[in-house]
Amino acid sequence: MSKDNPSSNPAAKLWGGRFSEATDAFVERFTASVTFDQRMAREDIEGSLAHAQMLAEVGVLTNEEYSKIAAGLKAIAAEIEAGEFPWEVGLEDVHMNIEARLTERIGDTGKKLHTGRSRNDQVATDIRLWLRNRIDLIAAELTRLQGGLVDLAEREADTIMPGFTHLQSAQPVTFGHHLLAWNEMLNRDYERLMDCRKRVNRSPLGAAALAGTTYPINRARTAELLGFEAPTENSLDSVSDRDFAIEFCAFAALLLTHLSRASEELVLWTSSQFDFIDLPDRFCTGSSIMPQKKNPDVPELVRGKTGRVNGHLIALLTLMKSQPLAYNKDNQEDKEPLYDAADTALDCLRAFADMVPALKPKKENMLAAAAKGFSTATDLADYLVRKGVAFRDAHEIVGQSVSFAIAQNKDLAELSLEQLRQFSNVIGEDVFEVLTLEGSVAARDHIGGTAPNQVRAACARARKALEAR
Ligand code: ARG
Repeated sequence: MSKDNPSSNPAAKLWGGRFSEATDAFVERFTASVTFDQRMAREDIEGSLAHAQMLAEVGVLTNEEYSKIAAGLKAIAAEIEAGEFPWEVGLEDVHMNIEARLTERIGDTGKKLHTGRSRNDQVATDIRLWLRNRIDLIAAELTRLQGGLVDLAEREADTIMPGFTHLQSAQPVTFGHHLLAWNEMLNRDYERLMDCRKRVNRSPLGAAALAGTTYPINRARTAELLGFEAPTENSLDSVSDRDFAIEFCAFAALLLTHLSRASEELVLWTSSQFDFIDLPDRFCTGSSIMPQKKNPDVPELVRGKTGRVNGHLIALLTLMKSQPLAYNKDNQEDKEPLYDAADTALDCLRAFADMVPALKPKKENMLAAAAKGFSTATDLADYLVRKGVAFRDAHEIVGQSVSFAIAQNKDLAELSLEQLRQFSNVIGEDVFEVLTLEGSVAARDHIGGTAPNQVRAACARARKALEAR
């Protein structure tokens, strides 16, 4: 059957019994999903094997019928794996392609496979199985990335760089501390992913079309065979809601949002204006016209891909909105956004997991940048407070000192004691300890602070948490 010639015999459709004319050629293509849902072929077969085994266990199929079906499905799986399966658009979707092929291969016994189920619970099962597999791959890649981040953070626990607010130099921090901030974002993404997995991991199989089935099925058994935590509770809900896919896209959108923030920082840091980081050539490309260019394409692309994942989240929310119970064909539109969100998340994580261990910080440049911009001004204010000055007055005194230093084209640490004492006579020789960058970071010595020993302790905790996953 070609794409444009639908079967002239409507009964050739698996549902053709009540039809008296063939499907319109365009409608056939318009309603088909096999071009994309064949990605779930493996899961479809896995679900069918579990369903058939359960039917045999409860006596709906004989053991002989089950053996024939199972052997046929396994042969089809091999055929698909080898790229030799004859996918047909006229058979609409992955489910009917495989079922029709089964009957072709094993004869009439194949027609018994669909007993006690519907494509509605079948597709809901397939998506959950497919997504669960993707979640596990994504979780592993996320963990690999985080492992690399924590290693780098530990190596850079003493490396001083400017910390920013409003992208203006604010206070010195350590590079390790900055990397651990990324790690925290990713920790929450991991938690969200695992939480989403719990709700993905329930079996809708047995909900049938919408109301359940009259056969003595054992839903707990198919759930168990497929590694689901439990069967879903309500048949109408089971075949209709795709909230688990929406949740996954929400996870992916946040993950990409976090990766886009890190990407943006890498793009800034690799620029000649910042020049904080060297990104090895293998993650960059050149320009076809400007020979001097080395562009940070990988982080730029990750930043750009955030847009499509955000789009997929909105697409699925909009798809689900106002759908009456139970299954509606609208839901066929859930797959492409979901597949792409999962593919994009996995690819971007892979890019980052490969890239992070290869980042080469340019420590002198980071240190020099931190020394500019009066980043120890707050330390001077805190020093004055320790000497008995009220914080508001200290703020004023430091403001005047900064203004004076700007006029002298110097940093605070470069002013003489005499010059500093013009603004407050409580200032003594010991002030220069707090005006150093090392002193500034070391003083922020509490949980969550940037002091190098705190960063090392945080790395140890982070590594332990990763190992416990
Ligand atoms: N291809 C369909 C989907 O992706 C499978 C379920 C079709 N069910 C139906 N009653 N038409 O949603």
